[in-house]
Amino acid sequence: MRILMVTSEATPFAKTGGLADVLGALPQALAKLGEEVAVVLPRYASMDGLTVPRRIWRDMPLTLGRYSFLAGIDEVRHGGVRYLFVDIPALYNRPGIYGDRTGSYADNHIRFGVLNQAALAIARNIFRPDVFHGHDWQAGLLGPYLHEMFKGDPTFFGAKFLLSIHNLGYQGNFAASVMPDIGLDPNLFHSEGLEFWGEVSFLKAGIVWADAITTVSPTYAREIQTPEFGFGLDGLLRPRVAKISGILNGVDYGEWNPETDPHLPARYSAQNLAGKRISKLALLQELGLPLDRERPLIGVISRFAGQKGFDLLPTIAAELMELDFALVVLGNGEAPIEEMFLSLADQNPQKVAVRIGYDNALAHCIEGAADMFLMPSRYEPCGLNQMYSLRYGTVPIVRATGGLEDSVDESTGFKFGPYTPEALLECVIEALAAFRDLPTWRERMRRGMAKDFSWDVAAAGYQKLYKSL
Ligand code: ADP
Ligand code: GLC
Repeated sequence: MRILMVTSEATPFAKTGGLADVLGALPQALAKLGEEVAVVLPRYASMDGLTVPRRIWRDMPLTLGRYSFLAGIDEVRHGGVRYLFVDIPALYNRPGIYGDRTGSYADNHIRFGVLNQAALAIARNIFRPDVFHGHDWQAGLLGPYLHEMFKGDPTFFGAKFLLSIHNLGYQGNFAASVMPDIGLDPNLFHSEGLEFWGEVSFLKAGIVWADAITTVSPTYAREIQTPEFGFGLDGLLRPRVAKISGILNGVDYGEWNPETDPHLPARYSAQNLAGKRISKLALLQELGLPLDRERPLIGVISRFAGQKGFDLLPTIAAELMELDFALVVLGNGEAPIEEMFLSLADQNPQKVAVRIGYDNALAHCIEGAADMFLMPSRYEPCGLNQMYSLRYGTVPIVRATGGLEDSVDESTGFKFGPYTPEALLECVIEALAAFRDLPTWRERMRRGMAKDFSWDVAAAGYQKLYKSL
């Protein structure tokens, strides 16, 4: 089959979160299974791994409402996959992917609307797919473009649209006034179409016109159909239950494997954990924390967003700080969360070290060094770090939701249910107590390290779904 994916992020080219990890690995896993896969994404100002792109198309005309653009298409072949970059400097040649320090770019509806038009033009001229596979709101307009704007166009005859929802909390909602800018019939602006609380919603458009919908874990597929996790879209999703399925993301073990990880000061395996102790001491030293190898070290690596559950911490901070452990935090995002962690480190310099920023090498070192990994998410569509942690023998402490529920069990980690500070505190206390029994702890680590979340399994799931379409 020929699959054309549309995304705003993919490693190693552009990344703000787990979406990029998925688009860096799933297409290749599908290629290994024999499918032909191309991935369409914007050519941003700075992109890693894009040193020698080949320009394969010049001046591809694209229109979006009253706007017209000429796009260059650049190609990089990577792991048997064609990555196709849409080069429109006026739209994408900016420092950020979605915005800058002052917020989201005001023309994101145009930037990602055009991306979807580019994908259709690529389908016409370069890579004609059986299935368009769009990721998140940024690819939502593929639905109405394919099934309304180009309805009856023989080029796209029989082509299906699969929407993967990586996070229902990000919907791409814009003022109703953008309607003329995205080139769709104004009659589609109604409650069974693009309209959502008086605005234009790209994600809703994707859901309404999708031939199938996936989320990135089975539990999240069920959760999004409830008011608690539905972000106002649960009522739209429930009647579509037959179209919705959940496929747990995989892990790129080429990238995340303590036996080969070049970022670690020493490598290790389930059979020989000496390198993990070395990694722990090296990190404690680097962070200026006491070199106490017996004291449990808890790691956090995260985008700082409401979703991630850190608002549970302030009320229990005092009690937590009386417990015997060290905490290392790497992350960035919403200012109040950054400030909360920085002041915790300020007040507890012997216990807490915080690094604000995005640092892939440090993320690897934390996975290698920490004894436990904390992810108290309010909701988590899949989550990748808990799966990386399992492979690194870094026992996850997680809230039982979404992909955390599906990838961590009582034999490999610690889970709490209610979204309350008390439940989190109790869970941390339980994990710290368990850590004192070293032989049992090691068994727990080894069970986690033996878990296999490789992409082959997930890719086979997508392959089956494409076939069924
Ligand atoms: P989300 O996509 O919601 O942010 P995931 O757990 O799916 O959550 O994926 C997060 C990815 O981003 C992981 O690969 C993680 O290691 C990485 N990451 C998040 N924050 C940082 C950071 N500050 N520095 C380095 N890597 C980070
Ligand atoms: C989103 C979700 C995260 C998921 C990632 C990749 O960013 O927040 O849980 O792992 O997408 O699917």
